[in-house]
Amino acid sequence: MLKPVVLDHPLIQHKMTLLRDKNTGSKEVRELVAEIAMLMCYEATRDLPLVEVEIETPLAIAKSKVIAGRKLAFIPILRAGLGMEQGVLNLVPAAKVGHIGVYRDPETLKPVEYYCKLPVDIKNREVIVLDPMLATGGSAVDAINSIKAKGVTNIKFMCIVAAPEGLKALQSAHPDVQIYCAALDKGLNEHGYILPGLGDAGDRVFGTK
Ligand code: PRP
Ligand code: URA
Repeated sequence: MLKPVVLDHPLIQHKMTLLRDKNTGSKEVRELVAEIAMLMCYEATRDLPLVEVEIETPLAIAKSKVIAGRKLAFIPILRAGLGMEQGVLNLVPAAKVGHIGVYRDPETLKPVEYYCKLPVDIKNREVIVLDPMLATGGSAVDAINSIKAKGVTNIKFMCIVAAPEGLKALQSAHPDVQIYCAALDKGLNEHGYILPGLGDAGDRVFGTK
């Protein structure tokens, strides 16, 4: 089982404080979610393999490195994961993007998948799944089940806030998946919301409440 990585760089912590604040409006929430995702992506791609190539600078022939082999795909979980999409694409603009729609039934808290569109060559790519919230873990486990069913073997999961319950559920369902979060919070309330959390991520990103 892979140990979750908490990305608590001071720049991320500062932005997390602004993001959690209930007085931060959706324009700023959108910007913060994208910025935090970009900073996290920098770390989550740290182990991408490199290969040496030869290039010609204006002055000399030089050996230099480029990203090798399997290429990246990002898969945001709709809706709230969409808020992270532009941030990671700022860093890796050539990545392909798939989308999985999953919502959590408010009564049962069980995931309901309603959409899945992935790049045709997805099984040859390294995949980073994006969702700001890992609460019970149901949505992430369901989305990763669907991605694995397409033959993908190399998956990372990047969330902004994780609850211990969600981490445990995701780790036990998918022990091979490396989890990155910006904050590990205390736990869930009786409605399955993360405390202290940041509220309903989709509503805050899209201003729907
Ligand atoms: C939120 C969030 C996750 C899920 C986390 O989505 O973006 O996908 O809840 O909860 P879980 O770990 O208990 O499954 P939501 O169901 O609110 O859908 P939305 O993004 O479409 O608003
Ligand atoms: N989904 C959210 O958007 N927020 C939570 O705290 C839990 C699930």
